[in-house]
Amino acid sequence: MAKDFSTMEDSNRSSNPSIHDVSGTTRRTVLRGGLGATVSQLLAPLAAAGGAAALGGCAATNGAVSGSLLGFRSVPIGTADGVTVPEGYTVQVIAPWGDPVGLSGEDHAFKEDASNTTAQQETQFGMHHDGIHYFKQDGSRSGLLVMNHEYVDHGLLFPDGMATWTAEKVRKSQAAHGVSVCEVAEKNGQWQVVRPSPWARRITASTRCTISGPASGHALMKTAADPQGRTVLGTLNNCASGITPWGTYLTAEENFIGYFSGGSTPNPHESRWGLRKGGAGYRWHEHDARFDAEKNPNEPNRFGWIVEIDPYNPSHTPVKRTALGRAAHEGATTAVTQDGRAVVYMGEDARFEYIYKFVSRDTIKPGGYAANASLLDHGTLYVARFHADGTGEWLPLVHGTGPLTGANGFADQGEVLIKSRQASDLLGATKMDRPEWIEVDAAGWVYATLTNNSNRGGDRMPAVDAANPRANNTMGNIIRWKEDGDFAATRFVWNHYVLAGDPSLDRADAKGNVKGDLFACADGLWTDRRGVLWIQTDMSTSSMGKGDLKNMGNNMMLASDPRTGEVRRFLVGPAGCEITGATGTPDGRTMFINIQHPGETPSEISDPKNPAAISNWPTKRPGSRPRSATVVIRKNDGGLIGT
Ligand code: FEO
Ligand code: CA
Ligand code: CA
Ligand code: CA
Repeated sequence: MAKDFSTMEDSNRSSNPSIHDVSGTTRRTVLRGGLGATVSQLLAPLAAAGGAAALGGCAATNGAVSGSLLGFRSVPIGTADGVTVPEGYTVQVIAPWGDPVGLSGEDHAFKEDASNTTAQQETQFGMHHDGIHYFKQDGSRSGLLVMNHEYVDHGLLFPDGMATWTAEKVRKSQAAHGVSVCEVAEKNGQWQVVRPSPWARRITASTRCTISGPASGHALMKTAADPQGRTVLGTLNNCASGITPWGTYLTAEENFIGYFSGGSTPNPHESRWGLRKGGAGYRWHEHDARFDAEKNPNEPNRFGWIVEIDPYNPSHTPVKRTALGRAAHEGATTAVTQDGRAVVYMGEDARFEYIYKFVSRDTIKPGGYAANASLLDHGTLYVARFHADGTGEWLPLVHGTGPLTGANGFADQGEVLIKSRQASDLLGATKMDRPEWIEVDAAGWVYATLTNNSNRGGDRMPAVDAANPRANNTMGNIIRWKEDGDFAATRFVWNHYVLAGDPSLDRADAKGNVKGDLFACADGLWTDRRGVLWIQTDMSTSSMGKGDLKNMGNNMMLASDPRTGEVRRFLVGPAGCEITGATGTPDGRTMFINIQHPGETPSEISDPKNPAAISNWPTKRPGSRPRSATVVIRKNDGGLIGT
């Protein structure tokens, strides 16, 4: 079982043309000053919710720089089994896997030997935290934390790991996936999960979700259990996340195909998505036929979507928004056009896959979710093509446009969205080096982490191109683009914000050009209210400490000033973890990040007889199971984080 199924499969090896000639003038001059006051006004609710405030709230520009945004002294690389932050900062751990999300009492407590029942796990935080957001209630003093639980380590989830395998274990595994909503508050100088809380809920791989948008009811979405093709049980492999200006949470279904076992002779559609016999490392299909794609061939089509959740309504049915396309989605980052439409940027984290954006047809209305409940059902999905001259274009995934016709296997718009990879192949989109999180800065630049791609330029693999310039890209890079006047534009200019790396290395392609502290394999991104771009890393456990990554230590979080490109290391995580997901209170004085899979071994399945082989974070008790958790970061003097 491996988390990064993207690193096991390359279903997109063929080469699209990734370098295209563009005639005419450069678009750069068109962009200046286009993202104006209307954006700021519309994002005001986001800023208040602790979201992408930097878009509207920071004075940063591309012009003169006055002073650095970074005021802390960087921390060194480290391999300790703990969290290291700069002098003057403290960390606190909340919401570890297995703690109750909203119930109090012994009946709901975590059991150190992993003997909690399925029913208990259904009320407890799931495993392997990822995307996270703070939705304010009482400003910066209390709110709702919503977070993803991407996947599970069965060696930690059960007392005997996978030594036995039963339907009940499958149900507990499913219950440890999904999303948690919990209430948090600061009391007596400490943040705590509020219990009991009427807001707390778990959404798991078994929770009923609605399917909306053009693929809802499509023939390819219908199953024996859901002949209408409009309702699906659960969301899974929830990786990066996003928020909307109307106050909802967007969670992305990433490596969903790894939950399904296919037939021995997959059809072209199944092959393109990596479905294969024996590919279901989680082994749910052995006791839950829904995940046996030989028996239920359309069930995989019902995953890989962006799912919208209203955290302020504990009984809200999550909605899979098919208009945003199907992908091994990493996240969903929202911007707002000058006329008030929503634009959602999404990466597909798999080698040689694509970057997408969705532009809504309608404008955002005042009135929260109720007034915008179908806003993400109507609009246009685009895929990015990066030209070699520093310009780029968004190619529409619209049925009947260009090659997206019945003759090429797309009967209608629903099929284009379900088969977005095949559609992007035909359109000649640029095959990227594993796009992960996407963020937007104060000046309107949109950043995407390209975490790594060691197959780039390899035998029978796509060659390097301008946007993915390094063969055997072990270090990754951060690319950024600026739209042609507004976020809905179909043209953009782009450049590389930073090529990650280590200047001490021999291999030229691994040195990078970091202005500041070295790092590799950027994954999480978050822009805070001051405009600081926070960069989180995910070097895989199997490659850490070896080859190009030999001097990198544990995964880390860095802060960058987008006006200068400076990168400074702020935090180093415990052994075997990745750092992922960041959010903060509106006042900028509390930051929440997630520590995922502390103690992960290269096999990615822990030994239940020795679960603390690498880490016992956060309890630090000998032999204690390592547990993904949320880390609260504050400055001792109560100041703004990062200063
Ligand atoms: Fe779940 Fe691409 O990280
Ligand atoms: Ca990620
Ligand atoms: Ca990653
Ligand atoms: Ca990882």
